[in-house]
Amino acid sequence: MIISSTHDYRLAAKRRLPPFLFHYIDGGAYDEHTLARNVADLRDLALRQRVLKEVGEVDLSARLFGEAVSLPVALAPVGLTGMYARRGEVQAARAAASRGVPFTLSSVSVCPIEEVQPAMTRPMWFQLYVLRDRGFMKNALERAWAAGVRTLVFTVDMPVPGARYRDRHSGMSGPFASWRRMLQAVTHPRWAWEVGLRGRPHDLGNVSAYLGHRIHLEDYIGWLGENFDPSIGWRDLEWIRESWKGSMVLKGILDPEDAREAVRFGADGIVVSNHGGRQLDGVLSSARALPAIADAVQGDLTLLADSGVRSGLDVVRLLALGADGVLLGRAFVYALAAAGEQGVAHVLDLIASEMKVAMTLTGARAVGEISRESLVAEHPREPGWQVSRDRIRLWA
Ligand code: FNR
Ligand code: LAC
Repeated sequence: MIISSTHDYRLAAKRRLPPFLFHYIDGGAYDEHTLARNVADLRDLALRQRVLKEVGEVDLSARLFGEAVSLPVALAPVGLTGMYARRGEVQAARAAASRGVPFTLSSVSVCPIEEVQPAMTRPMWFQLYVLRDRGFMKNALERAWAAGVRTLVFTVDMPVPGARYRDRHSGMSGPFASWRRMLQAVTHPRWAWEVGLRGRPHDLGNVSAYLGHRIHLEDYIGWLGENFDPSIGWRDLEWIRESWKGSMVLKGILDPEDAREAVRFGADGIVVSNHGGRQLDGVLSSARALPAIADAVQGDLTLLADSGVRSGLDVVRLLALGADGVLLGRAFVYALAAAGEQGVAHVLDLIASEMKVAMTLTGARAVGEISRESLVAEHPREPGWQVSRDRIRLWA
């Protein structure tokens, strides 16, 4: 199969993975409306082509939380990455390091922090969930710091897990789930050999290391529901802000009021995100939420965004709407599932070259020159978008 884009990797991942894993990655919450809008709203945002601007060499480099990055991109935290490829977190981390971008390890990764750390030639980022067991959080923060993590991504949009209908149909959860998964593994022998057998142990490495016993995949969805804490508020985060000496980034902000609250709280950054459409279906796409948030807090903290990014053009679009950096979720996961470390490195190369073309043809020599000027002022196809010189108002 010829692979020239993240869409090709998605199809390759679909062939390689047992369906329960493919649909866990690919799916979203409820009717998947927000999932679809994330992609469609980015696609519909017209870049403003400018020519003969003497662009020459395009500079993709940037700084995120004091770190030099070769493009303004990081790999998003993704749970169970070690089920998509053999010790998948280690492979993805290596690919990110080789391309000069940060890798974020999820709380609910298969490989624990200590297994990923030796693969890193640059500090990794670590994502933390709010769990009922604050002892786990404290333990994870200490271990992350000891492993050289200085950027903590604190995910705040999962006080309860969103219902993913596909997971019940696919065998990720629901009746006879473990039998169905076994059957699927048998009919996907490459995955079964590479990951199912040689990629063991399959558990939540960070959690098991704390609890002293394994959390098996069987328990995964149930475990999330039982252990996430819906009573969390800003005050609960204060001890983390005080004890964590590195940068603290709040992931899952979708409203300007919450973004202002994050500034008041003392966050170093936020990720404008709807969790890739996996949490509350029906909320705004990131592309639509971002401009108002940028108006509210740009310059007060580092503004990251994700959800729906499938190409370097999408990265440029989010930067044009006000982001300082962009997280890749499914875009790298599909490639990891299809082709491991090499696939992820390839996707990062694709993103870089697509960004170069988009920047050259919008007249931006450096990442800092990408602005709302890089977008067409009035979008012809979608009356909801109103883009003016310094403001983008949506659903006017
Ligand atoms: C996620 N995401 C996520 N976020 C997080 O903070 N911790 C996590 O453990 C996970 N796990 C996870 C698993 C899978 C399979 C996916 C697809 C996503 C959300 C992720 O970090 C990011 O916000 C989205 O993936 C962005 O949307 P796109 O780019 O995938 O559309
Ligand atoms: C998910 C969780 C683990 O989106 O973040 O599935």
